[in-house]
Amino acid sequence: MNWNELKFKYTKTNAIICSYYTDGQWSPLQVVRDDKISINALSASLQYGIQAFEGLKAYRGADEKVRLFRPWENSARLRRSADFLGIASPPESMFIEACKMAVRENIQFLPPYESGATLYLRPFVIGIGGQIDLVSPNEVVFIVAAIPVSSFAGSIEYNSKALIARDHDRTAPMGTGAYKIGGNYAASIVAGVKAKQQGYASVLYLDSGSRRYIDEFSSSNFFGIKGSEYITPESSNILPSITNDSLMKIASKSGLTVTKRAVGLEELDSFDEIGACGTAVVILRMAQIDDPLNGIVYSQKKNKNTANHNNSTCQLLYNKLIGIQFGTEEDTNNWCLTVPIN
Ligand SMILES: Cc1ncc(COP(=O)(O)O)c(C=O)c1O
Repeated sequence: MNWNELKFKYTKTNAIICSYYTDGQWSPLQVVRDDKISINALSASLQYGIQAFEGLKAYRGADEKVRLFRPWENSARLRRSADFLGIASPPESMFIEACKMAVRENIQFLPPYESGATLYLRPFVIGIGGQIDLVSPNEVVFIVAAIPVSSFAGSIEYNSKALIARDHDRTAPMGTGAYKIGGNYAASIVAGVKAKQQGYASVLYLDSGSRRYIDEFSSSNFFGIKGSEYITPESSNILPSITNDSLMKIASKSGLTVTKRAVGLEELDSFDEIGACGTAVVILRMAQIDDPLNGIVYSQKKNKNTANHNNSTCQLLYNKLIGIQFGTEEDTNNWCLTVPIN
């Protein structure tokens, strides 16, 4: 495998890990070699989008240990999303065991430390029984798949641009934005593809009620740095990002003030740095944000004190975070779970 050519794309690996929920019980976890499963054509996942998913990574450390980063948080978030849909989700112990099994069964796809690449784990639950009535399904499968993906390890992406969504909203006020469920992504995929074709790394969503405040990017949270303050939006309609939560704790320990509050659109240009953070991208530092209604609403180049990328606050936070994930920084918060291999 050429680890340097990896992207964030699906590749079939050795096995997926599955458990079926029927009659109120989860079956023992099974290793399944095929990546196709059989579900009813009239299942609620296919008909009504009843599915919830997660994303986390396995990291091969400088010390060769294999680590998962805060998998308990992914387990809890899957439970919240599944509860919202009214479907079963696995107990934490089963979630963690399935993640470990997915790593072990696909160990040859876990990239070496030097590559900076990782093994992405995709746990999910979907409704699988036949139905046409609008009720929460009581037959569910829980699956964990493992796919090797590229990384931006070493330095963060600096020249990213984002586009503010003006012709659609991703979720409604008091809607589904705080849950990791398929419909949110269905609502934003075409906009994301079009934005990429125009050279944007991501789409930035405003709060769908007033469209005056920043919510988040299509698949990552928003944060801004102003002097020694780390500011991230307070909103009931964004996904609680595990990366953002970790960065807030790292920022606070590094002497920054951490503030969660509404961030107005007009405030964007006053930030020294703006980052998009999430498991997949880690941190993308935005060079520019464009608004179809108002033109360029943020330009990183104007802010002189961040000209040296290596000394940027984004880069310092990034170094600490990936250091913990790859085992080169002390894990004082006990965020990592080591996966015994063999
Ligand atoms: C909408 C959205 N926001 C934020 C994130 C980042 O969350 P995390 O840091 O837990 O990966 C993701 C990715 O999971 C996402 O899809």
